[in-house]
Amino acid sequence: SLSLQVDQILSEFLLTKEELKDVMRRMQREMDRGLRLETHDEASVKMLPTYVRSTPEGSEVGDFLALDLGGTNFRVMLVKVGEDEERGWKVETKHHMYSIPEDAMTGTAEMLFDYIAECISDFLDKHHIKHKKLPLGFTFSFPVRHEDLDKGILLNWTKGFKASGAEGNNVVGLLRDAIKRRGDFEMDVVAMVNDTVATMISCYYEDRSCEVGMIVGTGCNACYMEEMHTVELVEGDEGRMCVNTEWGAFGENGELEDFRLEYDRVVDESSLNPGHQLYEKLIGGKYMGELVRLVLMKLVNEGLLFNGEASDMLRTRGSFETRFVSQIESDTGDRKQIYNILSSLGVLPSELDCDIVHLACESVSTRAAHMCAAGLAGVINLMRERRYQDELKITVGVDGSVYKLHPRFKERFHKVVRELTPYCEISFIQSEEGSGRGAALISAVACKKAACLI
Ligand code: BG6
Ligand code: GLC
Repeated sequence: SLSLQVDQILSEFLLTKEELKDVMRRMQREMDRGLRLETHDEASVKMLPTYVRSTPEGSEVGDFLALDLGGTNFRVMLVKVGEDEERGWKVETKHHMYSIPEDAMTGTAEMLFDYIAECISDFLDKHHIKHKKLPLGFTFSFPVRHEDLDKGILLNWTKGFKASGAEGNNVVGLLRDAIKRRGDFEMDVVAMVNDTVATMISCYYEDRSCEVGMIVGTGCNACYMEEMHTVELVEGDEGRMCVNTEWGAFGENGELEDFRLEYDRVVDESSLNPGHQLYEKLIGGKYMGELVRLVLMKLVNEGLLFNGEASDMLRTRGSFETRFVSQIESDTGDRKQIYNILSSLGVLPSELDCDIVHLACESVSTRAAHMCAAGLAGVINLMRERRYQDELKITVGVDGSVYKLHPRFKERFHKVVRELTPYCEISFIQSEEGSGRGAALISAVACKKAACLI
């Protein structure tokens, strides 16, 4: 029957608990290899030290500027860090969003950073603070090999970025140079952090058990507090350091070949970075809509959907946006949303078509949630082993459009994480403006240490 054939095609997206455990173990193995000096270079999961340590030495108060580059939006923020009698600190933010033109993302690094400097200049004008030399915290959501908190080279672009001349260079240097080239304002760049790290820090200030940060948005990644003695890339054994796992690259050594489907291969081959970020491409919002579109095209070509006929739009790469997946899965049963979305794509669906499209969305997004859960369970189980605790109580700070906006992602994700992590008590908190607050709070700590003048 029709639905049997549809079921067969969609059932490829199902992962059993055993398979998920397998993914988790493979992920843990790569994490372990990434941490060790001997195997670091060949590991797919890079486990990058961030120079954010577990021993904050108090922080400065005052105004900070924060930049947030690498998610859906580029943001410039003014963050006021102040003292609060109850919690010891408080922050207030003002922010402005700028969209990054395609040619700045894929042109030269100079073009991209000149554009960033232009946005900062505009922001300073708007808030009448151009004369102030503020300390700046930069949330830069790409893999960076740090040498210190304010120094690190971009290993490779991910997601939709490809500006030439940036890979292999110190990102803070690129920003400082662009600010110098403009010459109409000064900034003191004191810290650069990944978005996972900024998210973790911003939640840490509300909940001292928050030692994991995770993003499920355009891309997908996590960081966590690791024992210094196992972070072999950095000298010293005392305390903990936050490690940016860059788990999105998992699979680059073939670890996911048993699970990747024909749609995943097409998405990868037509991306800006074929062969890279294979785990991220199963989960991230940059790819989810396109995966669904490819599944729908498969069903059309098999004569199982839309009477075997797709519209020009549906045949066009990128036409099925990830937010449609969320909207379709939010359907309450009257199929209205689904009908509207599909008609906007140029097809006139029957009721059965709507139901099949709903199922296709569910298959792709559920696999994403479960795959992502296997990764996080890997991190949390590793932390429990390291700490020799019978029961690990931990909080995970989370951000990203897929996690926050998809109607079912969270519950499916939480359920599998908990199934895979016995003896762990896990809380999840969503970060609000995490990158701005996180970058500012780290800068405030950095300023205290460096006694910078603010
Ligand atoms: C934002 C954070 O809220 O979420 C960013 O401020 C982060 O730092 C982003 O990169 C991730 O989500 P998305 O969906 O925008 O990629
Ligand atoms: C990509 C980036 C990573 C970032 C994640 C979420 O995986 O490589 O640094 O944290 O996207 O934005």
